[in-house]
Amino acid sequence: ANADIGLVGLGVMGQNLALNIADHGYTIAVYNRHHEITDAFVAHCREKEPSHERVLGCAELAEFARSIKRPRKIVLLIKAGEATDSTIAALLPHLEAGDILIDGGNAYWLDTIRREKELTAKGFEFIGSGVSGGETGARFGPSLMPGGSRAAWAQLEPIWTAIAAKIDPETGLPLEGAAKGRPVSGGVPCTAYIGENGAGHYVKMVHNGIEYIDMQLICEAYWLLKNLLDLDAKAISDIFRRWEQGPLSSYLIEITADILQQEDRAGGYLVDKVLDTAGQKGTGEWTAASALEQAAPANAIAEAVFARSLSALKEERVAASTVLQGPPLRTQADRTALIDAVHDALYCAKICAYAQGFQLMERAQQTYGWQLDFGTIAQIWRGGCIIRARFLQKITDAYRQNPGLQNLMLDPYFSQALHEGQGHWRETLVLAVRNGLPVPAFSSALAYFDGYRSANLPANLLQAQRDYFGAHTYERVDQPRGKFFHVDWPAPDRPERPI
Ligand code: 6PG
Repeated sequence: ANADIGLVGLGVMGQNLALNIADHGYTIAVYNRHHEITDAFVAHCREKEPSHERVLGCAELAEFARSIKRPRKIVLLIKAGEATDSTIAALLPHLEAGDILIDGGNAYWLDTIRREKELTAKGFEFIGSGVSGGETGARFGPSLMPGGSRAAWAQLEPIWTAIAAKIDPETGLPLEGAAKGRPVSGGVPCTAYIGENGAGHYVKMVHNGIEYIDMQLICEAYWLLKNLLDLDAKAISDIFRRWEQGPLSSYLIEITADILQQEDRAGGYLVDKVLDTAGQKGTGEWTAASALEQAAPANAIAEAVFARSLSALKEERVAASTVLQGPPLRTQADRTALIDAVHDALYCAKICAYAQGFQLMERAQQTYGWQLDFGTIAQIWRGGCIIRARFLQKITDAYRQNPGLQNLMLDPYFSQALHEGQGHWRETLVLAVRNGLPVPAFSSALAYFDGYRSANLPANLLQAQRDYFGAHTYERVDQPRGKFFHVDWPAPDRPERPI
């Protein structure tokens, strides 16, 4: 046995992660259910990759297991769900106590909790690790979010640290690498221990929920600029390029600017030819469902999922557009003012979106008994992953300064940004509403901001309504919390009763 680690699942992510591991000097045994894929990958390695000799192809699981040093570390990069269970079941007869399985897929965190429990009961170790950054990230430096036992993490840490994206410790900026297509070393790695059992996959799921809202907000900004200023894709690309220099600087803004300037072979811009029906693979939906379950008000994240669902009803929307009329669309004259307003709306809404994601993780950690370090999580997301952004350094700073921070919006840097930007944010929404342009993410984020900063909300009436029809009782503003009352409604003459 001379492989330092093994990897099962040679899809693009698996192949790229294997090459990344080999680049860093580790010998890696690889296995795929269809051995032709393994053969083709190994042949490719021999021809094209400098680290080729360190990639060992195995046709059988027994040979695969035999070739890995003990305790074995085996990364699974296969489709999340049943395939993970069946692969683990097939592997187990070839493993020995103390061996560590690492699931790098977008697994459902409750599955990870279950698998960790089952496998540790059998004497194995199990790490559920979020892997973000798409194909390029996997190849040249992903953001890695591992959850499991600390003992198992100690075994995996050197490899995970070596292959993760790195950020410059001085500037906090991602070190060149992933984007430029070459590996980097040095710098602060975008990986750290997240927590027990399913913590890593939960945090990766929330990363994806934030990814959904981040993307949706950018799409809404694009839509407003396109429709209210009658700009073509290239002109909007130029605006995003400028935004890239400021607080909105992020990978998603960067790729949006790239996308918008892409011309189509048939003329015009490619983005205008792409059908407006969004797909989704489920992690956004899980985030929204978990938020509902945790009673965490992540309304903007949920709205971003619904925005994709609504977009997918293309035929219905096309039919409805001939029946349901909105107000006439009026192009705006003051171009500079509108661009500035949309910029600030995007920044404010983004702060709220991240506040929701972190608030959700805060609720979840109480449910699942994790001790999440939010400053570190934001730092891990600083490089390698899809939501990497300059802004994340401010989140790390906020939690480092105040580890007990209840909500990101309460941090002085973010509250000031919200105070300064909210005028523009509101003006942007007024324009969108007046012109009948849908901006569900911008507006639900504002509803969150306005709701969270309201000492009083109309839930007083709601509680009275609940008590009226269902005797659900209510608390009083002038009595201690936890003391409940009920009225036999409608009962002007019957006194309220303490319960
Ligand atoms: C990443 C991405 C990646 C993928 C998601 C979302 O962090 O590298 O989040 O995991 O893009 O699965 O995909 P959908 O948009 O298809 O749900």
